[in-house]
Amino acid sequence: MKLTTPYADVLLPLSAEEFAALRDSIKAEGVRDPVLHTEDGRVLDGHHRLKIKPDAPRHVIPNSASWSDAECQAYVIRSNWQRRNLSPSQKAELREKMKRIAFALREQDKKRFTQPVLARTFGISREAVSKWFVRSAKAGSNGTYTNNTLPVRSEKPDARVKLSPQQKAAVAEQVASGRSRAAVAADFQVGRRTVDNVVKAAEKKAAVEAERARKAAEAKAAIEDEDRFVLHGDFRETLAHLADGSVSLIFTDPPYDRDSIPLYGDLAALAKRLLVDGGSLLCYVGHYAIPEVLPIMTGHLEYLWCCAVVHTGERARMNYFGIRVGWKPLLWLTKGSRNEADRQRFIDDVVISGGRDKEDHDWQQSEVEAVHFIEGLTRPGELVVDPFAGSGTTLAAAVRLKRQALGSEKNDSQVALANRKVTDAYRIALGGDA
Ligand SMILES: C[S@@+](CC[C@H](N)C(=O)[O-])C[C@H]1O[C@@H](n2cnc3c(N)ncnc32)[C@H](O)[C@@H]1O
Repeated sequence: MKLTTPYADVLLPLSAEEFAALRDSIKAEGVRDPVLHTEDGRVLDGHHRLKIKPDAPRHVIPNSASWSDAECQAYVIRSNWQRRNLSPSQKAELREKMKRIAFALREQDKKRFTQPVLARTFGISREAVSKWFVRSAKAGSNGTYTNNTLPVRSEKPDARVKLSPQQKAAVAEQVASGRSRAAVAADFQVGRRTVDNVVKAAEKKAAVEAERARKAAEAKAAIEDEDRFVLHGDFRETLAHLADGSVSLIFTDPPYDRDSIPLYGDLAALAKRLLVDGGSLLCYVGHYAIPEVLPIMTGHLEYLWCCAVVHTGERARMNYFGIRVGWKPLLWLTKGSRNEADRQRFIDDVVISGGRDKEDHDWQQSEVEAVHFIEGLTRPGELVVDPFAGSGTTLAAAVRLKRQALGSEKNDSQVALANRKVTDAYRIALGGDA
């Protein structure tokens, strides 16, 4: 009899390692358990064995010719539920399938598929089955038990099987290269929905990056004088030509990683030369880095304050510290004391941020805080500098407020994007079209 495998995807596939181990064992010892199938040839147990050894021994399940799809699927799950070494999220996924099948069986024959029978069918507790039906009734089922009556649940993240960023990248790469999502889920010991979510996030990120690249190319082509507002290169070289005491405010956002901490020292040294007397440097800094950053900056400038930019969106969780982060620090240092007139213009040290706009840069900041400090600490016509310009957020805010603006950025495509953004803001500020 020719066998068919209509229920192959009811099961979660074996991981590549598990499959290789099964292949080796079959090679060494042959197939120990026969492939089980219905009287009309539908395989219910032994899909992997059959794949490895198409002539594996077979066994017919008695009285199975008339089994419905739901009955066959229930058999497939029961024979694998306890045997397989599944991760918690894979188990949760299989339970969802069980539930659907249980509802279909109930729909097929209410009298036969009572709750105790369903519990025995799947080899799980009666309480678990009872909960499914109670929940379904609460969710508004009108007495029919089709797949559609199942309340849709969002997948809870599986705390025990967390994918690292590298693993997420590998998941997305494998799916992109054509491997089935189910096989990738099996390899990484996660549920199918986790893979779907990872792929969706990766596709979104790729689309954002593609759009940035497109805009950068367009901006490059459009702006003849590319170095208009943002100079391309390391700020220690590109801003070296600026005259001593020519800058009223440096407002900037250096990279947050540990390797970049020395940049804060170079930034403070440059600020000491460029700032007007009493001028200010405000820079974002990671909370964790403050104890290391402050001593290297205060070798050049005076520490004045630590301002807070309060997040409005979802709070990031810093797992390492066990902290949900609601604000970011902005260190404020000055060249000598602030002058009396400036101190009369009181400024709030807390800014409610404008949310996460990451269209042009992964670390793009909201313009709200740049506007707040540029407006409060400088006057129209004065020069505002951003040595780590990124997508040009600070400089766009500066030109909108009719200040002069100059920045530096070492990333080539970011320079083009930033120049486009600041030029557009500049034209609008002058009263023209973007
Ligand atoms: C945190 S991001 C700034 C993001 C920016 N605030 C925005 O809203 O788009 C830091 C930027 O500094 C740039 N950078 C790092 N080191 C630099 C250096 N030595 N000179 C100039 N730019 C640098 C990086 O390429 C990156 O774009």
